[in-house]
Amino acid sequence: MEILDNFNLKNFNTFHVSAYARYFINVTDISSLKEALAFAATKELPFMLIGQGSNLLFRENYPGVILEMNIQGKKIIDEDGDSVLVKARCGENWHAFVQWCLGNTCYGLENLSLIPGNIGAAPVQNIGAYGVELCEVMESLEAVEISTGQLKTFSNADCRFSYRSSVFKEELKDQYVIYSVSFRLSRKAEVKIDYDSLAIALQKLSVEEVTPELVSKVVCEIRRSKLPNPGRLGNAGSFFWNPVISTEDFSRLQKNFPDIVSYPQGDKVKLAAAWLIEQAGWKGFREGDVGVHQDHALVLVNYGQGTGAQLVTLSEQIRDSVQDKFGIVLVPEVRII
Ligand code: EPU
Repeated sequence: MEILDNFNLKNFNTFHVSAYARYFINVTDISSLKEALAFAATKELPFMLIGQGSNLLFRENYPGVILEMNIQGKKIIDEDGDSVLVKARCGENWHAFVQWCLGNTCYGLENLSLIPGNIGAAPVQNIGAYGVELCEVMESLEAVEISTGQLKTFSNADCRFSYRSSVFKEELKDQYVIYSVSFRLSRKAEVKIDYDSLAIALQKLSVEEVTPELVSKVVCEIRRSKLPNPGRLGNAGSFFWNPVISTEDFSRLQKNFPDIVSYPQGDKVKLAAAWLIEQAGWKGFREGDVGVHQDHALVLVNYGQGTGAQLVTLSEQIRDSVQDKFGIVLVPEVRII
């Protein structure tokens, strides 16, 4: 196991901000994971795991140990009629795995195409896009308990999934490292195409049959058309959560802002944070090398030399102005370190 000292994380966060980790370890199997955790414990240093750094913003240098999770492997482990169980280890790239599933006629993940990040990070925040959330297709996962080094299995229910959250972000925060995730997929080419922008894009194509492969292709096109490619322009996708409010609060807001964009969310209402930010005048804003993307107001960007601290300051200015205008406090979805 190689331990790197004072390591620049610029290429390990999709904002591409410069920040140094005290130590950096590339973890490629479960024994090096346990060794790396033991190293951090011996040094009495904090540690954190990163996959592709696609939901992270380093405000400053990191004083502890960074574990780059690179444990690879994926396979079909069980089949029963149309139902198929597929398992992937934490270091697999999410989008490559979605494409691999499609290539092996395992359907159900296509709406989640092109989401940045690794398998291991996906359940933590219950990733979701275009009408599908991970919790709808995840069967179980295996995770290493940090305090004991033991591998434990979590059922879907054990993960207590909710909108962009799970038990690993709440009660069990920082207690487990996700090692592998199993998905219950289907051999049947059934598609979910209710999400507005997806349905509209598919209608425009006026094809006779909508296949999972087509859904994946169209989702990729939509994402590419409005979400900047982090390889070219530093960003971490949606910076804030879409706020969820009560129907009473929503009725009051709607009186003043009749065009407000919203979606029903159980007995509550989810607002489009992008709409709130755009209405507050931020879309396309740029100061120095940080700004708000011109095509999507929920995406903060680093044009090159922007720093984590500048991005955090910008996010606070946005939060304050949205609060002044709408009385809604936006909360970052991106993890600020
Ligand atoms: N909108 C604006 N201005 C904009 C962009 C959008 O007013 O600049 C409004 C539009 O009315 C649009 C609505 O906001 O209909 C919602 O926008 P969009 O469909 O792009 O989705 P989102 O709510 O901004 C969420 C996820 C995305 C996911 C998309 C598609 C969150 C925080 N974000 O974004 O996830 O890709 O839906 O399902 O839930 C991510 O988490 O990093 C991410 C990109």
